[in-house]
Amino acid sequence: MTLTTAATLSRVLADLSQLNPQNKVYYTSVTKDTGVSSEYNVTGNGIQLLTSQDPFDNVVAHVGDGVLTTVTTEQLTALKALPHLYSLKGSSTVVNIDLNLQDYSIVPTFKDLGYPTFISNDLDTVVAHGTLAYQLAISNKEPVFHFINFAAVDPATVYNQELDLPRFQFEELAAFELENAEHFKTYPGASASPSTLVINLSPYGPQFAPVAAKLNALLVDIAIYRPWTLAQFLEALPGSIRKIAIVEGSSKAVSTTGAGFDPLLLDFFDNFNALAERKIDQIILSNVGRLSDAEAALTQIVNNVQGAAPEQSLYLGEDICSSSTAEYSEAIKNVINLEAAYIKVLNQLFDGNLNVLNEYGNECINTKSPEYGFGAFLHAQSDREALVAQVKKSLDPALFSTVPGANELVKLLSQWVSSTEAQLNEAQLNEANDLAQEIYTILQGNQDCEAVLELLKLAPSVEQLLFRSHWLIGSDAWSYDLGNSGVHHVITSKKNINMLIIDSEPYSEVAKRESKVHKKNVGLYAMNFHDVYVASVAVYSSYTQLLTAFIEASSFNGPSVILAYLPYHSERDTPIQVLKETKNAIESGYWPLYRYDPRKEDDSGEELAFTLDSSVIRKELQDFLDRENKLTLLTRQSAELARNIELSATDVITRKQEKRAKAAYDELLEGLSGPPLHIYYASDGGNGSALATRLAKRAASVGLKATVLSMDDIILEDLAGEENVVFFTSTAGQGEFPQDGKTFWEELKGSTDLDLASLNFAVFGLGDSQYWPRKEDARYFNKPAKDLFGRLELLTAKPLAPLGLGDDQDADGFQTAYSEWEPKLWESLGVSADDMVEEKPYTNEDMKINSNFLRGTIYEGLHDESTLNIHPYDAQLTKFHGCYIQDDRDVREIRKLQGIEPLYSFMCRVRLPGGIATPDQWLIMDQLADETGNGTMKVTTRATFQLHGIFKKDIKHAIRAMNSKLLDSLAACGDVNRNVMVSALPANAKIHKQISKMGYDISEYFLPNTTAYYDLWLQGPDKRDEDPNWEKLFQTRDGGPNIKKTKLSDNSLVDIEPLYSPVYLPRKFKVNITVPPYNDVDVWSSDIGMIAIVDPATDIVLGYNMYAGGGMGTTHNNKKTYPRRGSLLGFVEPEDVIEAIKAVFIVQRDNGSRTDRKHARLKYTIDDMGVDVFNAKVEELFGKKFGPERPFEIQSNCDYFGWVKDENGLNHFTAFVENGRLVDTPDKPQKTGFKKVAEYMKEHGSGDFRLTGNQHVLISSVTDEHLDNIKAIMHKYVIDNTDLSGIRQTSTSCVGLPTCGLAMAESERYLPVLITQLEDILEEFGLRHDSVVTRMTGCPNGCARPWLAELAFIGKAPNTYNIMLGGGFYGERLNKLYKASVKDDDIIDIIKPLFKRWALERNEGEHFGDFVVRVGIIKPTLEGKYFHDDVSEEAF
Ligand SMILES: Cc1cc2nc3c(=O)[nH]c(=O)nc-3n(C[C@H](O)[C@H](O)[C@H](O)COP(=O)(O)O)c2cc1C
Ligand code: SF4
Repeated sequence: MTLTTAATLSRVLADLSQLNPQNKVYYTSVTKDTGVSSEYNVTGNGIQLLTSQDPFDNVVAHVGDGVLTTVTTEQLTALKALPHLYSLKGSSTVVNIDLNLQDYSIVPTFKDLGYPTFISNDLDTVVAHGTLAYQLAISNKEPVFHFINFAAVDPATVYNQELDLPRFQFEELAAFELENAEHFKTYPGASASPSTLVINLSPYGPQFAPVAAKLNALLVDIAIYRPWTLAQFLEALPGSIRKIAIVEGSSKAVSTTGAGFDPLLLDFFDNFNALAERKIDQIILSNVGRLSDAEAALTQIVNNVQGAAPEQSLYLGEDICSSSTAEYSEAIKNVINLEAAYIKVLNQLFDGNLNVLNEYGNECINTKSPEYGFGAFLHAQSDREALVAQVKKSLDPALFSTVPGANELVKLLSQWVSSTEAQLNEAQLNEANDLAQEIYTILQGNQDCEAVLELLKLAPSVEQLLFRSHWLIGSDAWSYDLGNSGVHHVITSKKNINMLIIDSEPYSEVAKRESKVHKKNVGLYAMNFHDVYVASVAVYSSYTQLLTAFIEASSFNGPSVILAYLPYHSERDTPIQVLKETKNAIESGYWPLYRYDPRKEDDSGEELAFTLDSSVIRKELQDFLDRENKLTLLTRQSAELARNIELSATDVITRKQEKRAKAAYDELLEGLSGPPLHIYYASDGGNGSALATRLAKRAASVGLKATVLSMDDIILEDLAGEENVVFFTSTAGQGEFPQDGKTFWEELKGSTDLDLASLNFAVFGLGDSQYWPRKEDARYFNKPAKDLFGRLELLTAKPLAPLGLGDDQDADGFQTAYSEWEPKLWESLGVSADDMVEEKPYTNEDMKINSNFLRGTIYEGLHDESTLNIHPYDAQLTKFHGCYIQDDRDVREIRKLQGIEPLYSFMCRVRLPGGIATPDQWLIMDQLADETGNGTMKVTTRATFQLHGIFKKDIKHAIRAMNSKLLDSLAACGDVNRNVMVSALPANAKIHKQISKMGYDISEYFLPNTTAYYDLWLQGPDKRDEDPNWEKLFQTRDGGPNIKKTKLSDNSLVDIEPLYSPVYLPRKFKVNITVPPYNDVDVWSSDIGMIAIVDPATDIVLGYNMYAGGGMGTTHNNKKTYPRRGSLLGFVEPEDVIEAIKAVFIVQRDNGSRTDRKHARLKYTIDDMGVDVFNAKVEELFGKKFGPERPFEIQSNCDYFGWVKDENGLNHFTAFVENGRLVDTPDKPQKTGFKKVAEYMKEHGSGDFRLTGNQHVLISSVTDEHLDNIKAIMHKYVIDNTDLSGIRQTSTSCVGLPTCGLAMAESERYLPVLITQLEDILEEFGLRHDSVVTRMTGCPNGCARPWLAELAFIGKAPNTYNIMLGGGFYGERLNKLYKASVKDDDIIDIIKPLFKRWALERNEGEHFGDFVVRVGIIKPTLEGKYFHDDVSEEAF
C-alpha cells in the first residue's frame, strides 16, 4: 500500500490498520473532558465500545487464532482494563493508546505484561512504530501496545512522504525480532563524551533538544520500551556517562510517600552491578507536568542529577487537571484498596514487628517494587551479618570489664545470637525484641567501653538489633519468567524473607482463555526447592487458613512464598463478585488452598509437610504430589481427603451416578413396548420436572416406553434420530430458560444445519403472565417455550400438539392449561386417555405419614457415598431434625461444567428456646463452624444459631457435638412448633427470667415425641465422639429429644405423637413473646404472639395478651398468598398459656389445609374460618374465655446497642452483628472475638450469651469484676462498635444466596452495600441518626419479616427487587408494594426523593413508614388479606 497524499494522524492510523485485510477494528468512545479533540474511530467503520461498559471484556472475548484485532482507546480506559490485558496474551492485537492525560507513567505500569511497547509523539514515529507493531502482532501472535500522544501530533501536520506500506499476512510472516529497531531515539548536539544522559519519556523531546546540547547532556527519547535489556542499553551508551536523569511526563505531582520511585527506575535497578561496573553513580527520575518553560525545566533536572545531594522527587510544571486525571489516580488507588485486604491482615498479625520492604500499600502503585525491596533487604542483611559476627566476637565478659553486670550482658548477647538463628513465632519475636531493647539500653549507658563502642558502631540505633517479619509484596506478573524473576532470586537466596504474591486474574477469564496454563505455577516451582515455605491462600475463602499461612511463613527461618488470590475484573468489583470468583476458582481446582512447610518433612513420611486445605486440586499439583509420593501419604492420613481427591481425579461419583441412572433406565424400559416417547424438561423450581415425570408415568401406564431427562442431557446430534419428543420448560429470570435448559437452547439456536424433519415434537411452557406485569414486558411470558417451539418448527420438526402455555395466574395455575393440552398430545400419539391410570401424587403429607415418625430412609441416605445429596423425601424429613439439604449456588454452574453434581451440604439449625447460650454452647458452635461448617455462624431471625456447609459425612458428628453441650436441633425446622423466641430484655433480669422460662416450657411441651432423633443421631457410641460420656449425657438429659418409645399394653414399644399425630402439623408453627415497650421479636409476625403484661410494682408477669395467625410467607404474584399480622385472641394468665396455645394448635392441626402447602399456615385457616368462628373454636377447646386485651405501649421492634446494667448489677452488652453473620474479616474478626469472650467467660465462670430476633448478640450477665477484661477483648476484636447509623442498626436480611435454594436474588451479601449507599443519602439530608426499619429477603418467603418493615426489598430475580413501603416502625403495620421489579442500580434513584421529602415534610419525630402513609405515597395495609389491594398502577 502506498501512502502518497498528505495524511493526518487518523488517516495514518486508518491505513496502518488495513495492513491486514482481516483486521477487526474497535475503538472506545472519547472521554468527555480531556480537552483533546481526538477521534479514535480511525477507519470510520470500527466497532464502538462504550467506556462505561467494560470495553475490553468484549475485545478479549473475540480475539483468537488467525484474527488480527486493533483497539484504539485512551489511557484511563486502558488502565482500568488491566486485568483483561493479561488475557490478550497469545493474540494478534494492536492496542493504540492515546496518552491524552499526558501521563506517561502508564507506560511502565504495563511493563510486567512483557508485551512489545512503542511510544510515538510525532507522525513519522507513528508510521514507523505502527508498521512494526502490526508486523509483530501478526508474525509473533502477540499483543502490542502503541502509546501515541495524539495531542502532540499537531492535527495540522501533514505527512507528505511517499511510503510503501507492506501487507502482512499471517501465513507469510516468520517470527520477527525487534533487536535491530531503534529502541532509543538520540537527539544530536551533545559532545563526544557527555557525562549526563537524559532519558525522556515525555512529549518535550524536541523542546529539550537544544537545551540538552547546551548543557552537554545526551538526550534520548524512549521509542520502544519493551522488549528491553539493560545490558544492551548500557552497551550503546558512551563510556563517559556517569549520571542518568529520567524525565517522565506526569499529570500530577507524585505523592511524597512514594517519593523518587517509579517502575521505570526498576528497569535500571534490576542489575546494580552492571551500573556499578559502568561507573554510573546516579539515576534519578523527575516528573514533569505541563511545562511553560522547557529550557528552565531541563536545566534544573540536569543540575539536580549532577548535584551533590540531588532531590529524589522533583516535579516541575503544572498539574494537568481534569476529572479524568482525578479518576486516573483514583483508579490506581482503588486497585490498591482491593488488594489492601492482605496488607491489613499482615499489619494486624505482626503489628510493630512487620517490615514491608516495598511498601506495596503505598498510595501510589508505581512507587516501590519487590526488586527494590529485595535489594534493600539484602543490603540491610549484610549489615546485620556484620553485627552478628561482631556480637559473636564479643561474647567474653572480660571485654566488658567496665560494664556493671558484664556477665549478664554477655548472657543477653548470646541469647540474642541464638535468636538470630532460631525460628521465631510472633510471641518469640516479641520476646526477642524485648531482649534487643534491653541490650541496647545497656550498651547506650556504657559508652566508655571499647567493646560497647564497637557494637554501637554497627548498631547505632535499636533498629539494627530488632527482629522483624520481613515481607515483599508483588503481583503475579512479578513471577512470569520464573527462572529469571525476582521470585527465583528470593528463593535461592535462602534468606529469611517472606513473599506475598497477589494474583488478581479472575478464574472466569482464565477459563475463557484457550490455554489455561500459561502462567507458571510459582507454588510448584518453589516447592521443588524443598527448603522454602509455600502456601496458597485466598482471603475471600478461608481467613483462618490465610492467618495460619502468614504465621507459619513468618516463623520459618528461610524464604517463604505465599500466593494470594484476589480475583477482580475491575477496580469497581464488589466484594460479592470477588467472593464468587474466588469460590469458583477454588471449587474448580484452579486455585487450590494448601500449605507446604518443610519443617514438617521427616524421613518416615508420617509427619506431612504438605497440607491440602481445599478439596479439589488441579492436575499439575496432583502430578507433583504423586511424583513426590506425597499424595499417597496425604490420602493415607485422611480418608475423607482421599475421597475428595479421588473425586477430582476420576469423578467416581459421576460414574456411580451414571451407572445407577442407567440401571433405573433399563428397568424402566423392560417390558414396555410401543413408540418410544422422550420427555425433556428445563425447570428451576421443580414444577416443570414434576410435570415431565408425571407424563412419563402416565405413558408407562399405557405401555409406552418413556424416558425423562433434563434438557442438559440432550445430545443435539442424536435428537434428529428420536421419533417423539416432548419438551417442558418453565420460565426463569426475565423470559430466560431455566439453568438446566440454557446450554441446550444455545446449541439449538446456534445450529443451522440440523435436520429435524423426522422428529415429532410437543412443547408445554410454564410461566406467569404477571411476573413482569408492565405491558411492554408481556413478551417475557413463557418466552422460552415460545422460542423453542418456533425454532423446532423452523428446523422442520413436526408438532404433535399446539404449543401449550401454563400460567401461574390461571385458577389452577399451569394445571389449567395443561389439562387441555395433554389430551391433544395423546390423541396425536394414538393413545386413548381413557386407558390412563392416574397415579396419585406423593405429597408431603404422604412423606410424613410413611416416614415412621420422621425416619424415612435418612439413615441409608447418609451412608450412600455415591452422592453428596439425599433422597428428596428424606430432604423433607431432615427438616424436622433441624437440617436442610442445600447446594452452594455460587458454584453450581462451574460444577455443572465439570460434569459433577451440585455441591450439596446441610444447613443445621439449633433449637434454642429463649435464645440463651452458655459459653460452652457458644464454643461448641464456633468449633463446629470451623471443623464441619463453612467457617461462619449465622444468628437467625428466630434468635438461634445455624451452621452452613456441613457435608453429610459430618452431620451426625455435628449434631452429637451440639447435643454434648445440651443443644439439640429437633424441631428447629419442619411442620412443627419451631424455636420459641423471647425478647432479649437485658435491663430487667426478673422479667426476662419469667419469659424465658415460659419460652422454654412451651418449646419442651410442643417438642415432637418421636425417638427418631435419638435413634438417628444420638444413640450408642460413635467413633468421632470427643468424649465417651456423650451417650450417657444424651440419655440423662432433662428435656430435649425423647429417647424411649412408649410401651403398649401388649408390651410392644412404639412411637406415639399424642399431640401431633403421625402427620404432624400442616405447616410450621411459631411462638414469640415480647415485653413492652420492646417488640424485638416482631410479636405480630408469628402464629402465636404473646405480649407480657407486667405488674410495674413487683415486676411479676401477670399474663399475656395473646394473638394468633401472624405469618410472613408469600409467593410472588399469587394473590391468594399474603403476609398477615396476628389477630387478637385475648388475655391469658401464665398458668393457662400452654393450654391456650394447645387449643390453637389443635384447631390448626385439624383444620389447616393439607392439600395446598401454600395455603396451609394458621393465618389462612383463621381467615377461611373467620376470626370470630376461629376464636370461639379455640375457646371451646381451651375450656375458658380469653380476657379482654390489657393496655400496653410498644415503641420499637429494634435492638438497643451498648451496655446496660440490670437490677442485680449484672452487665449486658448488645453487640451489632451485621445480618447475624459471625465471620472473621480483616476489618472485623468478630467470630474470633466472640470466641475469646466465651473462653474468658468459661474460665472465670461469669457471663453467657443471648441471641436476638434481629440477629444480634448480647454478651450477657457479666459481673463488674470481669467487665474491664471483657471490654478489652471486645475492643480488640471490634465487637464493641456502637457508632452505627440509625438505618444500619435497624437493617436485617435473610440468608439468601448462595445457600438458600429458594433465593431469587442476593440478600445478606448485598444489603450491607445498599445500606452504605442509603446512609450517604440520609447523611445528606441530616438523617444519619434516624432509624428506618429496612429489611431485605432473597424471595417472598419472608424469613427476615420484610413485610413489617418501613422499607423492604424482596428478591424477584437476579439483581431485581420489589420495593415495599409503609410498614409500622414497631412492627404494628404491614407494608405495601411501591415499585415492582426494580434493578439494584436503580434503587437509590427511587429512594432518594422519598428520603428528601421525609426530611423536609415530616412532623416532629415522625417515622418514615408513617410519613409515607400520611402524605399518600403509599396506602396503608390494615389487614393481611387486603395486602394486594390499593397498589398504585405506577408500581409496575
Ligand atoms: C425468578 C423467577 C423469574 C420468572 N420469570 C418469568 C418470566 O420472565 N416469564 C414467565 O412467564 N414466568 C416467569 N416466572 C414464573 C415461572 O416460570 C413459573 O412460576 C413456573 O411455574 C416455575 O416452574 P419451575 O418450578 O419448573 O421452575 C418466573 C419465576 C421465577 C421464580
Ligand atoms: S426469605 Fe427466601 S431467600 Fe431468604 S432465606 Fe428465606 S427462603 Fe431463603
